[in-house]
Amino acid sequence: MGLFSGREVSILGAGMYVPERIMTNDDLSKMVETSDEWIRERTGIRERRIARDDELTSDLAYNASLVALKDSGVLPSELDMVIVATNTPDTLFPGVAPKLQGKLKASRAGAFDVQSGCTGCIYAITVAVSGIACGLWNKVLVVGAEVLSRIINWQDRNTCVLFGDGAGALVLGPSLSGQGHFISAELRSDGARSDLITLPGGLIEHPASEETLREGLHYVHMKGNDVFKFVNRLLPSFLKKMVQTAGYQSDQIDWWLFHQANLRIVEGVLRRLDVDMDKAFVNLDRYGNTSAASIFLALAELFDSVNLVKGQKLVLSSFGAGMTYGAILYEM
Ligand code: ACO
Repeated sequence: MGLFSGREVSILGAGMYVPERIMTNDDLSKMVETSDEWIRERTGIRERRIARDDELTSDLAYNASLVALKDSGVLPSELDMVIVATNTPDTLFPGVAPKLQGKLKASRAGAFDVQSGCTGCIYAITVAVSGIACGLWNKVLVVGAEVLSRIINWQDRNTCVLFGDGAGALVLGPSLSGQGHFISAELRSDGARSDLITLPGGLIEHPASEETLREGLHYVHMKGNDVFKFVNRLLPSFLKKMVQTAGYQSDQIDWWLFHQANLRIVEGVLRRLDVDMDKAFVNLDRYGNTSAASIFLALAELFDSVNLVKGQKLVLSSFGAGMTYGAILYEM
């Protein structure tokens, strides 16, 4: 893994959608033994969005995609591929991407889901960029969408305070002269730590049964503190090397967009990289951890709120169930 070659690939448009309903830390403290103070101090999260009962992951993905397509000026009929990163598909099959492709009437496009924990966003974008760079595809819609609120045990304070629902989308295509482009990507996995974040029930290993229901195996299980240590130990040197491979030093990166899981993780990683916190874009305070949607939400809000200048460099980086992790370097 390393530098992209072939045609240069640009972000042509970005968009996001979050459900209307806001759940605050105070709301949570009425449901489990926790407090606004604990959640803010340990995670940085203040509130998160929760999908309506009739809203599906494919609906969130559709709403975000409409915004990104409009932003890019690309029509659904021009898309060659629709890729959705999600850990909460409406159903195991069909996937979210084919449903989205159908809803958008993207009649020429193929469609598939990427499921790789929160890092699914980095994997999905990398596959999209590679497909365009080598000439296989021209225009690709790549989406991160999650309705995590339906796979969370709302009685487990170790997990329920962390997650939220949302979707973000990017339209990618070959660069025209003067447009920004993807420089490099690095995708990794440490499957030996696959026990850290799991949803074990309802499939092949533990088919749905009264017992899996009773034991709550259909919910997210996470060894939070072990994830915290794993990430803090691994990410700084991984990112430093990733940036160096592309010919830069950490202090030459203008914006760091981390998986929006925990503010203490963002602070810890940047401290070890010797980079100021004002180089990080953070919106986890308003959305919590939206897993594979998280980087997409951060990018859409960065593009909306910051006047980015040509030549500025962004690092997108995530980690999650697997344990998978990865990063992408983009130049505006
Ligand atoms: N409110 C109050 N107390 C709590 C809560 C809560 N919501 N949750 C846990 N506690 C308690 C624990 O029970 C524990 O109590 P004890 O000492 O009496 O046993 C104490 O707080 C400390 O618990 P820790 O787990 O050690 O707390 P920590 O500082 O590690 O923070 C947290 C926990 C926020 C989960 C942190 O470890 C974290 O963010 N980890 C990373 C998780 C993550 O980023 N996951 C991303 C991947 S998710 C994916 O891929 C789908």
